[in-house]
Amino acid sequence: MLSMVSDIHNCNVVELPKIHNRSGNITIVQNGEHLPFDVKRVYYLYDVPGGSERGGHAHKNLHQLIVAASGSFDVIIDDGKNKKIIQLNRPNFGLLVIPGIWREIVNFSSGAICFVLASEKYSEEDYIREYKKFLEWKLSK
Ligand code: TYD
Repeated sequence: MLSMVSDIHNCNVVELPKIHNRSGNITIVQNGEHLPFDVKRVYYLYDVPGGSERGGHAHKNLHQLIVAASGSFDVIIDDGKNKKIIQLNRPNFGLLVIPGIWREIVNFSSGAICFVLASEKYSEEDYIREYKKFLEWKLSK
């Protein structure tokens, strides 16, 4: 797996290919071509009630690409030193979130779909769900 400094400056928005014609668009993600990791899992958040906040955790090893497949939302990323907010609102752009980044997802528009491509299968052991523990974990690195 790709190793990278776990810093918000290494969490970039990537543009995915879009095939456009009069009857609509297609966006493609293929392993080995569009992402710096291979995809083992896909999940998506939908029917998110207005005002809800998701995320509120970090991962130790997981790489993810977060895409607003429909509608929009804001992703707050935090490496323990710096924070930034990225608005996602186009289905052919995704935010790469590397391991060791605290994330919160807020301001979901009505009907928003948060589509996530992940480098690993689900593992609760990979989560850090308390911000204080996240900061301790960062200091231990
Ligand atoms: P969680 O990742 O905490 O959601 P969010 O960050 O969007 O608020 O997951 C919510 C619940 O769903 C939690 O009980 C774990 C479960 N879950 C799985 O079982 N498999 C998965 O792939 C994911 C992403 C979550």
